[in-house]
Amino acid sequence: MIVRAPAKINIALAVGLARPDGYHDVDTIYQAVDVPDVVSATGSSSLQLQITGSEAATLAADSSNLAWRAAVLMAKLAGREPALSLVLEKNIPIAAGLAGGSADAAAVLVAVDALWRLGLSGAELTSVAAELGSDVSFALIGGTARGTGRGEQLAALATTSSPLHWVLAVSAGQLATPEVYGELDRQRRTEAAAPRPLYVRDLTGGIEQVRLLMRNDLQAAAFALSPGLAKLLQSGLSFGALAGQVSGSGPTLMFLAADDDHASRLAQRLSAQTDCRYALAVRGDAPGACDSLVEIGSTG
Ligand code: C5P
Repeated sequence: MIVRAPAKINIALAVGLARPDGYHDVDTIYQAVDVPDVVSATGSSSLQLQITGSEAATLAADSSNLAWRAAVLMAKLAGREPALSLVLEKNIPIAAGLAGGSADAAAVLVAVDALWRLGLSGAELTSVAAELGSDVSFALIGGTARGTGRGEQLAALATTSSPLHWVLAVSAGQLATPEVYGELDRQRRTEAAAPRPLYVRDLTGGIEQVRLLMRNDLQAAAFALSPGLAKLLQSGLSFGALAGQVSGSGPTLMFLAADDDHASRLAQRLSAQTDCRYALAVRGDAPGACDSLVEIGSTG
């Protein structure tokens, strides 16, 4: 089985207060973008994980990998051994705030469900996904959706038929998601800022609605931990991006562009900045793992 799973951005991310379980309630607009990881799953004598792609060496191919944990969870659910060979082709920038690990996990759920002919419903897959991480459920459905709870409660949002054009500038810094949330909590203690929820029912107002909706409550925290990001954001805006902000908990910046041409020009200029590892022009939205089972192989 081969399944593609998309990277995600948060067009808007409102963060509530810390909950007793350590998570934060969020109100977010997710959008899947067309840079997918490709996961293949075949039957094997034991659980094996291979990772390919230019950044593969930076990822652990063991039980700490979310894809591995997804396979173990599916095996437990099916009451069988996780006798699977998984290959992850990484195209989504790693540790970038684009939910690449969550995408891989979602793709494993869909691939294993098909390989073992488990026939899990969407609701069942979503509930397994939520056990793995806050963003895994969205990677299953893709498209554009509002996420609440810790991000796992999803409602698809209608959009216009024309795609949105984005530039993802992957910065040279490193940010760990729990640290960024922790920094936001610290800032809130000193600044007493009340979180504002989002009020959005659809995204049919096109690019101008998107521009006005863009916001990320984690941005100030990400800037505090990685000051070079603010400069890179200013560069993108000065190069003519329609809007820009930190993506998720960073350290990637996302910029809104008018069309494909505009996006590739912006990506070119941003790539030349010293704080930028590379920049990608992408389109949203893109399908999720559930709609991207692209090849049926032998059963496991
Ligand atoms: O769910 P996930 O494993 O991706 O979350 C990683 C970490 O990010 C959590 O352990 C938590 O510290 C933080 N987080 C949060 N609130 C969320 C999502 C993530 O505090 N809604």
